[in-house]
Amino acid sequence: MHKSEILVIGAGIAGLSAAIAADRKSAEVTVITKASRPASASTWWAQGGIAVSRDDPDQFKRDIMIASDGTADRDAVDTLVSNANDTVDDILVDTVGVEFDTNGGGFDYGQEAAHEEPRILHIDAATGKHIHLPMLDYVADHTDIEIIERTAALELLRHEGQVYGAMLERDGEITPMYAGSTILATGGIGALYSYSTNPDGATGDGIAMAALAGADVTDMEYVQFHPTVYVGDKEESGTEDDSFLLSEAIRGEGAVLRNNDGERFMPQYHDNADLAPRDIVARAVKTEREATGKVVLDVSPLEFEAEFPALAERCNDAGVSLPHIPVAPAEHFLCGGIDVDSHGRSSLHRLYAVGECARTGVHGANRLASTSLLEGLVWGFRAGQDATGNEPDHIEPPELLDRDPELPDNFATEKFHRLRRVMDTRVGIQRTTKELAGAQSVLRRLKGEVDAYIRTRTSRSLYELRSAAVVALLITRAAAENKQSVGCHYLNDIDDEPEMSASGNAP
Ligand code: SIN
Repeated sequence: MHKSEILVIGAGIAGLSAAIAADRKSAEVTVITKASRPASASTWWAQGGIAVSRDDPDQFKRDIMIASDGTADRDAVDTLVSNANDTVDDILVDTVGVEFDTNGGGFDYGQEAAHEEPRILHIDAATGKHIHLPMLDYVADHTDIEIIERTAALELLRHEGQVYGAMLERDGEITPMYAGSTILATGGIGALYSYSTNPDGATGDGIAMAALAGADVTDMEYVQFHPTVYVGDKEESGTEDDSFLLSEAIRGEGAVLRNNDGERFMPQYHDNADLAPRDIVARAVKTEREATGKVVLDVSPLEFEAEFPALAERCNDAGVSLPHIPVAPAEHFLCGGIDVDSHGRSSLHRLYAVGECARTGVHGANRLASTSLLEGLVWGFRAGQDATGNEPDHIEPPELLDRDPELPDNFATEKFHRLRRVMDTRVGIQRTTKELAGAQSVLRRLKGEVDAYIRTRTSRSLYELRSAAVVALLITRAAAENKQSVGCHYLNDIDDEPEMSASGNAP
């Protein structure tokens, strides 16, 4: 029987922070990850950085509240800000040895949209990668944590409101892993949209598994779109995806958005112009693209190649002629997720969630830039500390042990394609009641087809598809039920009568 005191599912910053915290308390920790390389975790892809408190923590809190349109949970924001500096110093700087960029006088704090002051620790604009690698090295060289790669969690082992571990799949073999505590750190949901800043494996597995096990999941309508993503050839050819994020830090250093008429449009949309909250900039970019055909990020006000060498190189590789980089909004971050308390505890006993799959309340309806790595680090650490001390118990595993792993050719690819089309066109950056109702019907049918296969087959791609379908339904249903435009949830038709009942069956 496979067992571990702590099972962490996911190996980005949140999962590793939880693992390190539990290891410090001498717990036996196993981390599983679908990935076979670090670049498959969202953490690796993070550019801008990690926000910390400077002289005025209250200003940091205010910035988070304002970016969230006043909807962030004040207690959660307090927890984040009051633990930010100590946790960054302890885990990232002192333990793991991350070397943030400095200038003559100390850390080189970066500026990003909706921050009242420069407070972002960063390394070039590739901060995620430079945090993730030393964390993985530290875990391998200095701890007893076991990391098992290429391993997916398919289902939680659950009985009467308590979680006992998960069913795992590795190279087609399915085994239960029993755990005293299970910590979900599975990241986001980028795979539900055609354009996303996430890695391909971001299929929402943790959220779906938790929801299907009966955990509370909230704020799912708040899907954040990043305003400045180079979307490349895929948009024109429908094939090659060479899209990449252009960090908000570039606007922080002075870059501006222009429409196809060369006009600098953001001052018309918000007093803070190009540094307005992200949801406002993303909608403005969409509007101006539709009105004029194109939006570019004009990097001529700064020394782009010198200040952002890695991004300048990507632009060069993609054939972009600087200083005008074509941009569009793309899915970036889910503000909602598995409802957790200040220690990452979900509504199910012995189940924790941290990082993007969790809803701590810090982001409310819209996340402030460079708070996601911080949230993952802080909540991961708190959850890892809290989760120790439970012995793994054995329960009867569900019946998915001996099933036929084969699927019809292209089944998952085709269904994913359909799901993304629905999410792109009806559950995107602007929504209407009618489109949301239509999306729910299509997604329910799709999930029904997937469920029919799940009854007789077990394969990773099928389970990922199920996760995506469950999460797509949760997002769409939450969006249909919320009649108020706020933060990332923007309704175009708030006065229209809904065409059909907004409340659907549980996915
Ligand atoms: C960015 O670098 O623009 C992204 C930062 C974030 O999403 O927090």
